[in-house]
Amino acid sequence: MKKLHLLGLTSALILTGLTVWAQAEDPFADIVETRHGLMMQMAADVGKMGAMVKGDVPYDAAVAAKAASNVAAVASVISMDQFPAGSEVGKSPDSFAKAEIWAAQDDFLTKIADLNTAAEALKASAGTDADSLKAGITALGKACGACHSAYRQTEG
Ligand code: HEC
Repeated sequence: MKKLHLLGLTSALILTGLTVWAQAEDPFADIVETRHGLMMQMAADVGKMGAMVKGDVPYDAAVAAKAASNVAAVASVISMDQFPAGSEVGKSPDSFAKAEIWAAQDDFLTKIADLNTAAEALKASAGTDADSLKAGITALGKACGACHSAYRQTEG
């Protein structure tokens, strides 16, 4: 009985040790997950608006306005806080962020500002009509793409 108990305690300690070790291995795991979540949320809302622009679903002013407002809100959260130095691809296992982000930080910040400008413009116009939505989402897509082509490692 006593031996079994000790055995259980030992494996519990080993497991705890392993967990601590796994966390210590990538100190950026949580923040990388956070920025992925922010990006995925924007992508979900862009997808909703894109479906209207493509004609897959009819234009709906209220849905478009809400999606655009969501993108603007999420964009306003993005900063260097989610991109701590050292969390680049190759160093942090889940990261596809290129090291150039920190080498050219001013430009990266400009791209975040451009994202916010495009998202705010879209927020103001998405609920007006389908043509306004199309113009705004095109500009927003350019802001996403400009940053990705410079700072996001393409998979595969
Ligand atoms: C200022 C730069 C910048 C802007 C602007 C930007 N992104 Fe990203 N995005 C990145 C970087 C860098 C990554 C890679 C992050 C990583 O893997 O850690 C990324 C990754 C992503 C991913 C992949 C997430 C994952 O789980 O792997 C999606 C989807 C995405 N972005 C969508 C968007 C959309 C949609 C927009 C525009 C509304 C946008 N991004 C604007 C820099 C940006």
